[in-house]
Amino acid sequence: MESKKSSLHVLLVSFPAQGHINPLLRLAKCLASKGLLVTFSTTETIGNMMKEATNTKSSNIGQGELRFEFFSEGWEVDEPQRANLDAWMNQLRTVGRESFTELINRQSEMGRPVSCIINNPFVPWATDVAAELGIPCAVLWVQSCAVYSIYYHFQHQLATFPKPDQRDMTLDLPSLPSLEFDDIPDFLTLNPYDSLRKVILSQFKNLDKAFCVLVDSFEELERETIEVMSRISAPIKPVGPLFRSTKDASVRGDIWKAADDCIQWLGSQSPNSVVYISFGSVVSLSKEQLEELSAGLLKSGAPFLWVVKTPPADMGSKPELPDGFKKEAEGKGMVVEWCSQEQVLAHSAVSCFLTHCGWNSSMECLTSGVPVIAFPQWGDQNTNAKLLIDAYGVGIRMKKTPREKDGAAVGTRDEVERCIFKVTKGSEAETIKKNALKWKEAAEAAVADGGSSYRNIELFVDDIQRMAS
Ligand code: UDX
Repeated sequence: MESKKSSLHVLLVSFPAQGHINPLLRLAKCLASKGLLVTFSTTETIGNMMKEATNTKSSNIGQGELRFEFFSEGWEVDEPQRANLDAWMNQLRTVGRESFTELINRQSEMGRPVSCIINNPFVPWATDVAAELGIPCAVLWVQSCAVYSIYYHFQHQLATFPKPDQRDMTLDLPSLPSLEFDDIPDFLTLNPYDSLRKVILSQFKNLDKAFCVLVDSFEELERETIEVMSRISAPIKPVGPLFRSTKDASVRGDIWKAADDCIQWLGSQSPNSVVYISFGSVVSLSKEQLEELSAGLLKSGAPFLWVVKTPPADMGSKPELPDGFKKEAEGKGMVVEWCSQEQVLAHSAVSCFLTHCGWNSSMECLTSGVPVIAFPQWGDQNTNAKLLIDAYGVGIRMKKTPREKDGAAVGTRDEVERCIFKVTKGSEAETIKKNALKWKEAAEAAVADGGSSYRNIELFVDDIQRMAS
């Protein structure tokens, strides 16, 4: 006999970073809306930041309930060693793991034993904990299925990847467009951050032990790649775009407080006029790039909303905007440290999104019908940009060239201006907008009742119910 949905308890565990928390928390909300008891967990340090920024607290969603419980990694957020990714991952794998295990055991003592754990593969040890405790475990892959395929082929040596001195070589994988050097995640080619490469490849360590690999994508977007990868690795269930899967926007997982006044400001701007610029939560732009970007924005004459975020300590320093920029920008644009991006992208005043193409931002703009200026910086962002521009046709890619005065490789001010014009008013603008709206509709259909992602979530809940019986 199947267990009742309300007696099922799903525990999600997220790597403590914004780009991971968002999709995991969105999945948590989606499962709670199906009538399940759902607990979201990450480290205490990040949990405290979430509480401070968004007043995170347990709530009822639809027929279900969403709770929050955090585990300790034994370090404060400003612990100097945390800036060393190897040391931090080790701390999570040891101290974090122990405290996470206690968290699970506590659930049984409180009369709500965990029926299923969902981790994101940046914390592969959660799968081992699940196995030790005899709890079924699934994973949520938080990037595209295309990137899953690329990493998988690299990890299992199923394809030849170009070396740094083989820039003319392409990478050709089943179902993907031919990838040039700059379209491939650079962890696999140039390897700019060795520690991050290790973490990225460790994602496959325990993947075959999961009973299901969920992915924040949707069938209509990546059908062939999903089919190919389901055949050669584990069965993949696309359940995205997760940010569209419940209408409940009251629970958010921001680590930083969003500036509310930018939404009011957007309300004062003409429809389809504002350029939105954000590089996610970890990317750091060079001083030269900030100079060019700010000059290009002013040159374009378009109103703009720009998120200028200080990256984590090990990824870069506090961004310094050129002297006098804020004064010059008065009345033309707004600079904030963090905003509610979902709300911004849904706003009718926004005309386009200049983005680093993190997968969350890619899914959010693609499914909000907002044209893109792609300016990837590293990792999967390179491949996401390729897909957004060449496969989905929703924008253009901003080129980097050496600056005349000092040779720094940047998207120059002229290039910034050219891209803004091209994507909003140029001869291709209408086709780009049409494509963007087409994907928005397809995404809405995927999560609507009976849609492909909706069905996959239902099947996933059925699986948990069966395993709990
Ligand atoms: C990281 C990696 O950099 C990225 O390449 C990978 O695909 C996911 O993990 P991040 O750089 O933070 O992610 O970018 P992204 O994936 O776009 O996630 C950022 C999230 O923060 C998005 O959900 C976005 O909506 C949110 N955000 C960003 C805000 O809510 N407010 C902001 O001001 C900026």
